[in-house]
Amino acid sequence: MSNIGSYDERYRDFDWSRAEEDLSWDDGGMINIGYLCSDRNCELGLADKTALIWESFSGQEKRYSFNDIRIYSNSFAKFFRDLGIEPGERICIFLDKIPALYIGLLGVLKMGAIVQPLFSAFGEDALFTRLEDAGTEAILTSRKHIGKVRRIRDKLKALEHVVVVDGEGMELSDGEVAFDFEKAEAVERFDVYQVSPETPSLLHYTSGTTGKPKGALHVHHSILGQYMTTKWVLDLLAEDIYWCTADPGWVTGTSYGIIGPWSLGITQLVLEMGFIPARWYQAIEKYKVTVFYTAPTAIRMLMKEGEELVKKYDLSSLRHTASVGEPLNAEAVIWSEEVMGLPFHDNYWQTETGCIVIANYPGMKIRPGSMGKPFPGITATVVDPTEYKPIEKVGSVGLIALKPGWPSMFRTYWNNQETYDSKFKNGWYICGDRASIDEDGYFWFVGRDDDVINTAGHLVGPFEIESALLEHPAIAESAAIGKPDPVNMEVVKAFIALKPGHEPSDELKLSIINFVRKKLSPLAMPQEIEFRESLPKTRSGKIMRRLLKAQETGEEIGDISTLEDD
Ligand code: PRX
Repeated sequence: MSNIGSYDERYRDFDWSRAEEDLSWDDGGMINIGYLCSDRNCELGLADKTALIWESFSGQEKRYSFNDIRIYSNSFAKFFRDLGIEPGERICIFLDKIPALYIGLLGVLKMGAIVQPLFSAFGEDALFTRLEDAGTEAILTSRKHIGKVRRIRDKLKALEHVVVVDGEGMELSDGEVAFDFEKAEAVERFDVYQVSPETPSLLHYTSGTTGKPKGALHVHHSILGQYMTTKWVLDLLAEDIYWCTADPGWVTGTSYGIIGPWSLGITQLVLEMGFIPARWYQAIEKYKVTVFYTAPTAIRMLMKEGEELVKKYDLSSLRHTASVGEPLNAEAVIWSEEVMGLPFHDNYWQTETGCIVIANYPGMKIRPGSMGKPFPGITATVVDPTEYKPIEKVGSVGLIALKPGWPSMFRTYWNNQETYDSKFKNGWYICGDRASIDEDGYFWFVGRDDDVINTAGHLVGPFEIESALLEHPAIAESAAIGKPDPVNMEVVKAFIALKPGHEPSDELKLSIINFVRKKLSPLAMPQEIEFRESLPKTRSGKIMRRLLKAQETGEEIGDISTLEDD
């Protein structure tokens, strides 16, 4: 049995009302995502089915049924409501991949607040920028990360509550409170906040080229997109054991690591740890994972480990594999088909799109290296960069553009309507990526249309890195670019001009690397630093990252007439 059907028929006949019907949207159904991912499954007879299999760093295993998820998310919801948090206020979840993250997120949605998930490896500057921008009222965190919150708390006027999931027995200060959902009173019934489709649900921060990171605001309606794409692109069926390796600090981890699978009542696996090849293969074997969704960098790292390691494990439970976040090179598709017996199905989307928009649909012939075709209900094309009109000539490179209107599309950037508006041109939403379309409608990714760095499938904003670098006492000028890397796609390279009195040295490099890692995150940490006397600038004083990148990659430098003479 399979969900997939024929791509062409599905694309031709599709209407989003189909997802509404499947989720009982039209007969007075409750559309709160928190409810749809927990209570509704119990009402459909899945109360005892395992919703979450969780494995800790140390290999300890825990299982939660849909009924557990329902009750525990009620407990979270009641706790936040009792704290006095109002619907529409922002609650940040700043946790490692532990059960409280997954269940707490549903709890926040159930009481009507907006969830702001943030990657727990963020340092205090990255955390501060995002909490300040969102005017976040409460943060759910753990002992491990509370130090970072404490160090910035005084500067965060709106932040009233710091909730520590393992805070029992800790010395807590004013506004800090311990809450262990497994020890709290079980809340059998909770009056779920009645939302409309347009009620805000999640606020995911994403990096841009200039300015601060932007908060893409999603609404409860988004579940229709996540539900439908999970069903058809990830092809999940009732008996599947599904594993999405993404961290819910990023959009893949919420759209496809929480909402998609649980809206379908699917059992999913979560590993607390990051990437360890042998442990990953072991997990597939041990939990008999059937559907696996990961990122190209992880696949390339598995490739690097070689075939010997794969052969030690029984991966025969796998029946479908997919990947997202960066270009999946043809070699990786071919390798996985040869070694694992299954090709990875690449798909494309963004924080802003909320769900997969272009995909190698199961059953459709994969063209290794291509992202596939638009998902049913999505109109996608490439447009020219001046008039934003669709490019008719097959194979020409243009900007990826989508017709607005699918349910899981972001509704605005928090506090930044102007930038949101600037993303729409000539009736299209412009994704900011370049691609071409072949004669059969397959999309081929070419590159980003801006300076944002994509490292291991994570976007890092050069501006944020440069700002952090400028806080280092020795640095006068800085520029950050993405340097091509065979495994991570790109790594951060920083160009630095020092203040008088400072000399380049290896110690200084190390001090700079650590400085950025602590302030932002390991992802933003420069893998390479080059000291220069000064950095190339335009006449108006803007540092020319593109020139530095072109020099780095040996590309044509192009028009340098706007460069300052120096
Ligand atoms: O540049 C594209 C790249 O990742 C960007 C979106 O990143 P983010 O908002 O963090 O969401 C990541 C998870 C969906 C895109 O604008 N990207 C995403 N998928 C692909 C990709 N680049 C090439 N191929 C893909 N399949």
